[in-house]
Amino acid sequence: MTDTPRHAASRQDVEQRGLLRFLTCGSVDDGKSTLIGRLLFDSRLIMEDTLASITKDSRKHGTLGEEVDLALLVDGLEAERQQGITIDVAYRFFATPRRSFIVADTPGHEQYTRNMATGASNSDLAIILCDARRGVLTQTRRHAYICSLLGIRHVVLAVNKIDLVGFDQAVFDRITGDFSHFAAGLGFHTMQPIPVSARFGDNVSSLSGNTPWHRGPTLIAHLEQVEPEAEAASRPFRFPVQWVNRPNQDFRGFAGTVASGRVALADPVVVAASGKASTVARILGPDGDQPEAVAGEAVTICLADEVDVARGDVLAPPAERPAVTDQFAAHILWMDEEPLLPGRQYLMRAGHLWTPVSVTSIRHRVDVNTLEHQAARRLELNEIGFCNLSAAQRVPLDPYAENRQTGGFVLVDRFSNRTAAAGMVSFSLRRATNIHQEEFLVDKAARAALDRQKPRAIWFTGLSGSGKSTIAKLVEQALHAEGRHTYTLDGDNLRHGLNRDLGFTDADRVENIRRVGEVAKLFVDAGLIVLCSFISPFRAERQMVREMMGTEEFIEVFVDTPIEACIRRDPKGLYAKAIEGTIRNFTGISSPYEAPEHPELRVETEGQTPAEAAEQVLAHLRGLISD
Ligand code: ADX
Repeated sequence: MTDTPRHAASRQDVEQRGLLRFLTCGSVDDGKSTLIGRLLFDSRLIMEDTLASITKDSRKHGTLGEEVDLALLVDGLEAERQQGITIDVAYRFFATPRRSFIVADTPGHEQYTRNMATGASNSDLAIILCDARRGVLTQTRRHAYICSLLGIRHVVLAVNKIDLVGFDQAVFDRITGDFSHFAAGLGFHTMQPIPVSARFGDNVSSLSGNTPWHRGPTLIAHLEQVEPEAEAASRPFRFPVQWVNRPNQDFRGFAGTVASGRVALADPVVVAASGKASTVARILGPDGDQPEAVAGEAVTICLADEVDVARGDVLAPPAERPAVTDQFAAHILWMDEEPLLPGRQYLMRAGHLWTPVSVTSIRHRVDVNTLEHQAARRLELNEIGFCNLSAAQRVPLDPYAENRQTGGFVLVDRFSNRTAAAGMVSFSLRRATNIHQEEFLVDKAARAALDRQKPRAIWFTGLSGSGKSTIAKLVEQALHAEGRHTYTLDGDNLRHGLNRDLGFTDADRVENIRRVGEVAKLFVDAGLIVLCSFISPFRAERQMVREMMGTEEFIEVFVDTPIEACIRRDPKGLYAKAIEGTIRNFTGISSPYEAPEHPELRVETEGQTPAEAAEQVLAHLRGLISD
């Protein structure tokens, strides 16, 4: 290993240069672990005993004969980390006399994009590794693009294994040229290419005699010099409230971590969502009262006035407020195996606020190889789209480019609870804030009272040919005869009118049920008993419709007929065609059906007549639709 001549840095120097957070992007094959190991090794942070054991291990397992295999250092730690499944990103700390560093090390195998995005969202700089023998790959472009989306403005292109191409400048220049061409539109403020051999240390901490054509800097020198963006502390003050601390009548404080900016006693602030103004009366830290707080500090803030503040609210300066919006445009990095479907509800976590949200449209998908915008109706695993979103409530948000803390969010799948996406807000769509909700003088209860009934949506779900419509028709007939005011919404019928533009892809079915749900809600609001008969194959959308109304208003009836029976009956001849392959995406054959787990009622149609099945539904409804 070569030694770096280093001058002793003054304390002031260290303080001025502070801390740099960075991540390394690349796969194990690119030499990512070896490079991180090399950085730790060269900065002499490896304890002597760790080193000794690595030397031993290298002989045993390493791929490098008698040499020290630096990858074992990192991979060894990684194996340990994998025991704790919740940790996606490990942060390693090291320092040179000039600067301290935190490296976000993201496990390189499964779910790599997810881990990388997490690491990138906390980093100032990315080292994008590429193998000199392989050049710029799709993955290199993907990493660069994700880094740019996640707000990284400084990149190092580490062209690794330069020894394996004979330290050839032409190879390096070609790779650098390819990368610069691609990265030109990504908004990086600095892009430093460096030829390295992580394994042998060339150009990592000292300039290599093997690459006389590379004048510098070395990787470490560059990491020591680069000027990260203005710190979070210099941005407008944002304080997402994590919880309201009210131990007794005399004390009411808002606990959280300052996301950006600073705040001092007597500063005027507003609660972003309500616009209510007050001033800062106290700031409490771990050691009691303090005069101010800056980004990164966890404190409790007390205001001078009694204003309503809830978990998820954001305190901000009156002159520099975040947008408070329920309609906004954002980049979405989709990270779930199940595709993103517009219209489907997900949970959004923005700061400490959780709210249901759906993508109303995908404006475009980005091809990570060419950065071209493409039309898309869904986003698959690892795809990136620019989308319009609609949230169930107004949320304080900043553009991600201005504030990574208050402009970033995640989407969570409501059933699996998996983090399905990372989102970066671009701008708020103002139009929705100009639309108000009108209050009427006659309401649902009044309308229903006139009919002496309780408005309900009776939702029949089941396979095509299961008997939904047949049973719904008989139920409606009986209710009508009793003097109930009813209406029926039926899949086949609506698809001739309101939904005539929709087909049977997953995305279209989601939109079908979303529209039908809205219509059913209007009919319930009109005071009616509305019978809805739709395959509605997805749990998520049935749940969404349920939540659109009051829980007691939605009665889910699972018409549970085995697929074999539906195929045997085949009333419209569609199963025959589906099996033959002339109809695509046919439920139960070539498209999934997710049976209800807890329907209000399950009706079997084998072994009982439609009239008996209808009677079963009517029996269940007794007492639920009238007093
Ligand atoms: S849903 O899946 O979006 O809820 P919906 O209930 O509106 O479907 O419409 C289903 C009806 O459309 C079926 O009863 C059948 O008559 C007809 N249909 C035509 N193609 C398909 C298909 N590929 N899958 C299911 N139903 C289809």
